[in-house]
Amino acid sequence: MNQMNRAIEILNSGGVVGMPTETVYGLAARIDIPSAVEKIFSTKSRPFFDPLIVHVADTSGLGGLVKDISPLVLALAEHFWPGPLTLVLPKARGVSDLITAGLETVGVRCPAHPIARELIQRVGVPLAAPSANRFGKTSPTTARHVRDEFKDQVFVLDGGACEIGIESTILRVGAESELSILRPGAISIEQISRALEKDFGSLCWVEVTSQFEAPGQMKHHYMPSRPLVVVTQQTSMAELCSALRQQLKNLPEQIEGVQILHPSKIETPLEITLSSDPVLAARELYAKLRDSAKESCDFLWIHWPHQLDDSNWSPIWDRLKKAASLII
Ligand code: TXA
Ligand code: MG
Repeated sequence: MNQMNRAIEILNSGGVVGMPTETVYGLAARIDIPSAVEKIFSTKSRPFFDPLIVHVADTSGLGGLVKDISPLVLALAEHFWPGPLTLVLPKARGVSDLITAGLETVGVRCPAHPIARELIQRVGVPLAAPSANRFGKTSPTTARHVRDEFKDQVFVLDGGACEIGIESTILRVGAESELSILRPGAISIEQISRALEKDFGSLCWVEVTSQFEAPGQMKHHYMPSRPLVVVTQQTSMAELCSALRQQLKNLPEQIEGVQILHPSKIETPLEITLSSDPVLAARELYAKLRDSAKESCDFLWIHWPHQLDDSNWSPIWDRLKKAASLII
């Protein structure tokens, strides 16, 4: 049986499948089989308060999922789908609380990867899919990463390395068409404003700070299997090690239920370097975190030379600061 047919069979019989997308690999299940959706949570050890994104094959898939499709929502979908934009919208009654974590909204995205689109189309039902990693850990950007993560217990459709490499931009569209970025990604506020300004004039951007509206945006996430230190200043290795020794004393073992790794020694650091092009840096970020963590070293470190408010780099900074045990 070919790989696609096998994936369809597993999904139709209530299983989960590793699905390539252009952002990161997802762990997919049919939204209409509750036990399959539950399997996503148990496979990932993901808490039920963290809602799932529903993946559709095209804009028509929004129909049964959201309450109403305003001209603004339609314009967003037509402009950015298929692609790395998740829309958080008031949900239709039929969407289960398991998927939305009891929220009145649902996150929907149409991925651009041809294998994901064929899979969703042929299953004929939208697929819920979080990133295919254990809760709090680094997201996978190759099929091998997914197999390693779940010790070969999950069947993975191999679609090659992900082109974008970090998760989609999450955009919440409120009842009065107010817009909020819940997670930065490859699609920026500037691109969204530019795409909509002709028909909708200037948009109303609001900041969402409540954990209730943006659950799952914990302080720590994406963590590699060795402690990562992000260094935002020019320091010598001796200064870095000394600052690290000081700050480790106050570092808790856990934050918001996510384990924070501490280096057992501060002797052998391993430096990670990223491309100076933010598109390439995003593409390679998670693979570098995973591969470097396999090397023998006490901790990983990465120098961050960019301004913290540089919008070209903000999606990567968002991931790095959450992946880090410490920022110095
Ligand atoms: O690129 C992506 O978005 C990848 C690929 C697989 O599509 N998916 C992904 O899913 O990153 P996940 O579950 O790892 O991250 C989804 C985030 C979570 O932080 C969750 O809290 C948030 O989306 N989310 C989902 N539905 C939401 C909702 N209704 N309101 C607010 N946040 C929501
Ligand atoms: Mg994730």
